[in-house]
Amino acid sequence: MTSLAGRHAIVTAGPTIEAIDPVRFLSNRSSGRQGYAIAEALADLGASVTLVSGPTCLDAPSGVTRLDVESARDMLAAVVAKLPADIFIAVAAVADWRPARAADRKSDKAGQTTLQLVENPDILRHVAGLEQPRRPGLVIGFAAETHDVLDRARAKRLRKGCDWIVANDVSGDAMGGNENAAILITSETETAWPRASKSRIAEQLAVAVSRHLAKA
Ligand code: CTP
Ligand code: CA
Repeated sequence: MTSLAGRHAIVTAGPTIEAIDPVRFLSNRSSGRQGYAIAEALADLGASVTLVSGPTCLDAPSGVTRLDVESARDMLAAVVAKLPADIFIAVAAVADWRPARAADRKSDKAGQTTLQLVENPDILRHVAGLEQPRRPGLVIGFAAETHDVLDRARAKRLRKGCDWIVANDVSGDAMGGNENAAILITSETETAWPRASKSRIAEQLAVAVSRHLAKA
């Protein structure tokens, strides 16, 4: 078994939340389980792991340094502050949009039926696009899709500029559930991992990462 001793990995996990006002926010159904399991699997192989996490109900895996963030912009800043890294794995379900303006005070519900949104920064694309030596040697994204899973994931890998992408079908209960089925897409190979626990998927990914870095 190859080891990740001496390697630094940054993993994003969980949802982000985007304030509408001090009591309301926009978010999504991510539980954080897959990202936490990946952080744990990398640490089990000896990596030093920084887990940048949106709000979840989970405890940090032992041996992993967790940084808590709320919004996509906070998540991006925390990731950039923790570079350099050998490995970056974006597992977070980052909110794609945030309200154009967050109110300082709770707004009255009356008359508030339209939200103006702006797009959030793309953390994976940002990290994948960094110049060497800032760019981690291996940048991995996830593609959560409900349809045309493989085609959309292949296109997403190219669009984001990441090295690998893990495609997963979230049309069932993958978001929030304990299991996942995934396909690891690299520039050379596509490997299907049958439906299994999120920890099993995480172990397979950590082993693939350690084998790849051992060869590099
Ligand atoms: N991601 C990110 N920052 C964002 C949006 C996504 O880092 N603002 C990362 C996710 O963590 C994941 C990958 O990009 O690793 C793909 O996320 P996904 O939501 O599937 O892709 P999007 O580019 O947001 O496209 P869409 O939601 O429209 O399918
Ligand atoms: Ca998205």
